[in-house]
Amino acid sequence: MKTFKILTIIGLVSFALFSFTTVIQDEWIVPDKYVNMKNPVDAGTDKAIGKSLYSKHCKSCHGKEGYGDGPKAEEQNGDLGDFSTEEFQAQTDGELFYKSSFGRDDMPEYTKKMPDDEDRWLIINYMRTLAE
Ligand code: HEC
Repeated sequence: MKTFKILTIIGLVSFALFSFTTVIQDEWIVPDKYVNMKNPVDAGTDKAIGKSLYSKHCKSCHGKEGYGDGPKAEEQNGDLGDFSTEEFQAQTDGELFYKSSFGRDDMPEYTKKMPDDEDRWLIINYMRTLAE
């Protein structure tokens, strides 16, 4: 009976720890340096370029309107988010820049495919226009 008790406790503790790590993994922590980073590119700059870069690199997963419903969305692990929501738009430009630049898991890294920071800032500005 004692063994049963101990096993139950071990079981509960592992379950608690497991749930805890899942929560931590879900939250995408952005370093302060990026959270507070100022967007150096004015919202009105090269809007057409921002849009076409988004179409070329991001639309296949995130979808035309950013709803997370692109043709490749089904195959992705992880929450694609919905770029039209207030929750998404509440993030700072720097947070979006960090996530868009470095990715994680199925979200690709773009620092090599798009080595010019300005291109990624143009995409951030474009994502702002997807707010509803
Ligand atoms: C191959 C599919 C794929 C492509 C292409 C892709 N993404 Fe993602 N993206 C993901 C996945 C999957 C996640 C969720 C990652 C996670 O939470 O671990 C994600 C998450 C994000 C997030 C965070 C969403 C949130 O709610 O905070 C941003 C911002 C983002 N992507 C921007 C971009 C940008 C900008 C591009 C194009 C330059 C792009 N993505 C291209 C798959 C993709």
